[in-house]
Amino acid sequence: YMVDKGNHKHFMEKEIYEQPEVISRALGHYVDLIENRIDLEAVSIDFAKVQSLAISACGTAYLAGLIGKYWFERYARLPVEADVASEFRYRDIPLSPQSAALFISQSGETADTLASLRYCKDEGLQIGAVVNVRESTIARESDAVFPIMAGPEIGVASTKAFTCQLAVLAALAIGAGRARGTVSRQEEERLVRHLTEMPRIMSSVLNSIQPKMESLARELSKCRDVLYLGRGTSYPLAMEGALKLKEISYIHAEGYAAGELKHGPIALIDENMPVIVIAPHDRFFEKTVSNMQEVAARGGRIIFITDEKGAAASKLETMSTIVLPVVDEIIAPMIFSLPIQLLAYHTAVFMGTDVDQPRNLAKSVTVE
Ligand code: G6P
Repeated sequence: YMVDKGNHKHFMEKEIYEQPEVISRALGHYVDLIENRIDLEAVSIDFAKVQSLAISACGTAYLAGLIGKYWFERYARLPVEADVASEFRYRDIPLSPQSAALFISQSGETADTLASLRYCKDEGLQIGAVVNVRESTIARESDAVFPIMAGPEIGVASTKAFTCQLAVLAALAIGAGRARGTVSRQEEERLVRHLTEMPRIMSSVLNSIQPKMESLARELSKCRDVLYLGRGTSYPLAMEGALKLKEISYIHAEGYAAGELKHGPIALIDENMPVIVIAPHDRFFEKTVSNMQEVAARGGRIIFITDEKGAAASKLETMSTIVLPVVDEIIAPMIFSLPIQLLAYHTAVFMGTDVDQPRNLAKSVTVE
């Protein structure tokens, strides 16, 4: 299988721009487009009967899992335990055989994730794997395999695998909700419509924000530290934004729950540290804006990633505001991933780092 960069300077850039296409393919695997429903018929996990769900993964896959946790809890009313695999495997978690476990891994070979899987298998749980590589060890050892169909991902910093993982987790959470009676047929139809609209929205966002992200990246490349804030599913996304930036630009970055700002990171705020606030106009918006006010009051420079409604509602002065279209909550994490990926990418390009193969990192970590 030959993979090349096409017209792109780096694999990472190519993989960012491939997202509308690969997500649409991934969704095609889970969505019945005629009936507007999630098709989980062939799935061997009985979501209607499980009492809880354990999610374990590493790195970016873990952050996708954290967003998945919010969805399974909200849509399927299923209690979720989520942890990084290196902790999960050693925590002595009391697990019941009435639970299911989901392992998320692009490569399907990550040592800690595989060890967590085997641990859960020994405890008698039903095992599901959300993987990109279907022939991988993690896929082989699972009862149910949920392919993300992102195609080969070469850039060490994960982009399209992340959003495909999210798309699949969203579909699974809705499907689980249907099976459990917590998502009505009508609600399922509504959510599925949003999911299937997503690739088109992603394309238009990718086509419009690039110049702005590039000029912002020029500013960011001069900074030593960056703080990312978000609430709800934007909180794991804040962590993913920070991870992406540090991985490839080597700028120190942290992702924090917006509500935790006053419990620590607020002490760091000054005119030198940009604060990237991820806030679609959702049910948490007002809360996040009040955290943003706390940043502004201390002279912090705000990069505000919001939507049209959010931009209209906030009167705060920012260093930059990135305005995305208003989208449903179920697809917001995928749409808001795009500026975050582009910002990290262009910052790394300005810094002159090896974007596709950043120092000290490996694409797949097969040792503990
Ligand atoms: C490495 C990669 C990350 C990836 C993580 C988990 O750290 O550099 O991009 O998120 O491993 O990999 P997996 O293949 O299990 O998703």
